[in-house]
Amino acid sequence: MKKYTICIIGGGSRYTPDMLTMLCNQKERFPLAKIVFYDNEAERQELVGKYAEILFNEYYPGVEVVYTTDPEEAYTGIDFALMQIRAGRLKMRASDEKIAIKHGCLGQETCGAGGFAYGMRSVPAVIDIIKDIRKYAPEAWILNYSNPAAIVAQATEKVFPEDHRIINICDMPIAIMDMYANVLGKKRKDFEPRYFGLNHFGWFTNIYDVKTGHDYLPELRNILKTPKEFKTEKLFEEPSWKATFDFMSTMISDYDEYLPNTYMQYYLYPQKMFKKQDINHTRADEVMEGNEKEVYETLEAVVKLGKIKGTAYEPEPDAGCHAEYIVDLATALANNSNEIFLIITKNNGTCSNLDPDMMVEVPCRVGTYGVEAISVGEVPTFYKGLIENQHAYEKLTAEAALEGDYMKALKALVLNRAVVNTDVAKALLDDYIEANKGYWTELK
Ligand code: G6P
Ligand code: MN
Repeated sequence: MKKYTICIIGGGSRYTPDMLTMLCNQKERFPLAKIVFYDNEAERQELVGKYAEILFNEYYPGVEVVYTTDPEEAYTGIDFALMQIRAGRLKMRASDEKIAIKHGCLGQETCGAGGFAYGMRSVPAVIDIIKDIRKYAPEAWILNYSNPAAIVAQATEKVFPEDHRIINICDMPIAIMDMYANVLGKKRKDFEPRYFGLNHFGWFTNIYDVKTGHDYLPELRNILKTPKEFKTEKLFEEPSWKATFDFMSTMISDYDEYLPNTYMQYYLYPQKMFKKQDINHTRADEVMEGNEKEVYETLEAVVKLGKIKGTAYEPEPDAGCHAEYIVDLATALANNSNEIFLIITKNNGTCSNLDPDMMVEVPCRVGTYGVEAISVGEVPTFYKGLIENQHAYEKLTAEAALEGDYMKALKALVLNRAVVNTDVAKALLDDYIEANKGYWTELK
């Protein structure tokens, strides 16, 4: 069996250690020859790199481990690029969230005004990296889950329209499906989902049993209407995620069909979500103080000890859905498994009454040929209206970021359901332009 060379871009990310655990767990299905870490911040990545050397030495001997800040060294000869960058890191996420709240808007990582500011930073960074990858690895699969994925996908499609080896993805739908599986006493892989929408903006229409074809959606709707404690993965036990999962019952009770992505709460109840926010302590602060800190403390401890096995830091067998999803996807591409994944891909008639150029999130079969979307058909009027509005916002944001067009940026913000007012949009832009100097393409 071929052994693969992969590069993790954003190697210093808090998500990397879980991915390494997952790669160790999957060595039979997805064998590695070499793993490279690439990041623009050498110091933070070095910690992850040293941790990886210890982990692989003990759990996966024979894999070459390299970490670098040089694109040529990083990308030459790779089969897969797993890309998870956060331009400006969590510090800029906090700035996005707080500026939004200051102007009476939603301050969220990928939604509303906060998501717009992040998109404007992400697009130039992601495009530059992909250009570098293509210089040194023209054929590599690029699995990109850099956020805000909806805007980033619009941009990659615009700049690299012919490149079907760039795949944009998000783990939220499968995190939600894990919760469904838990409610029904099943496993996520017992289901095959049907779903439509944009990234962080979509709905499950069917949850089929892979063996019998039974659709669990109606019974799930009934169960989830009643608020109760849903078992989710560890990260989602944090208070703000718990609140998000709890809110599902309100959304499901208020609407009479389908099962919404958790992120719909920000667009369907923007005022309510705004009131929950604290300008002095946003989700970015929570992550910096909690999950991120915990991850790096573990890495430091392991590097200091020089070993993992037999210590308190042995990785948990369940590496979390984020890591699982990405490695599953790479495995499907490598092994022609034809499994179904929810992927952000060019509509091209998949949703027959939506713009063919729209980057939709829909179920796709995945194999060595790449991804092939499964037909959705017509999207009903209410959803069509929401999606088209959101798509116009995302497309204009991607174009504003690529072209440095102020007017497109303003129009984008006004289209966003969580902004709407022109005067507010202008004030937001003033502050975001100031805060994002050196990250955004200059707006003219
Ligand atoms: C989910 C989403 C990601 C998002 C993350 C934020 O996994 O799919 O797109 O980045 O949640 O989580 P956090 O814990 O950083 O708020
Ligand atoms: Mn996501």
